[in-house]
Amino acid sequence: MGKVFVFEHPLMHHKLSIIRDEQTNTKLFREVIDEIGMLMAYEVTKNLPTENVIVKTPITEAKCKKLKKDVVIVPILRAGIGMVDGLTAVIPQAKVGHIGLARDEKTLQPQEYYVKFPDSITESTVILVDPMLATGGSVSYAIKLLKNRGIKDIIYAGIVGAPEGVKRIKKDHPDVDIYLAALDDKLNEVGYIVPGLGDCGDRLFGTKK
Ligand code: PRP
Ligand code: URA
Repeated sequence: MGKVFVFEHPLMHHKLSIIRDEQTNTKLFREVIDEIGMLMAYEVTKNLPTENVIVKTPITEAKCKKLKKDVVIVPILRAGIGMVDGLTAVIPQAKVGHIGLARDEKTLQPQEYYVKFPDSITESTVILVDPMLATGGSVSYAIKLLKNRGIKDIIYAGIVGAPEGVKRIKKDHPDVDIYLAALDDKLNEVGYIVPGLGDCGDRLFGTKK
């Protein structure tokens, strides 16, 4: 059964207070989303499988461990892009795939508009990233898409989640671990997370006044 991990860390709380603030401008918002991605990387990768290797040091041989599988980071466009640099700073060998989804504002259903994965990723660990888990429709759709491509090892990392979204992923994909910087109260009547941070994509890319 997939687990749900919500960060409890002073640095994370501090950074969340910045991105939730409506006064935070695009530049700072983008920087802090990036920092949160980096901060999450350590915990999100904690259970990655390793294999034993022997390394020749300048003195002798040492028994070491290396990551056993490739890691692929897959952001859900657009907002997921904001977390990629933070994660690749810590996992520089990771490849990056992209899933473009836009949530229909009326139906709240995700509409797919772009998919591009690196070659031969079925045996990799995929870290799916999207800062916002609202109804869970987008993340659930993206996980299904990954599974349809034969990918079995999937982790989801987001920043702000709603209980409705967590419930949806646990139901649709009970095998997927969920990592969130914060678990908020609920969704409002138009599907936004409360208290949340507003529209993450728009704040990240400065697309709305
Ligand atoms: C936002 C967000 C998630 C989705 C969450 O993206 O980044 O992908 O909504 O909502 P859900 O859990 O109800 O599916 P949006 O579709 O607004 O696109 P954007 O990232 O391009 O702004
Ligand atoms: N997408 C966002 O960017 N924010 C929300 O609160 C919900 C969906």
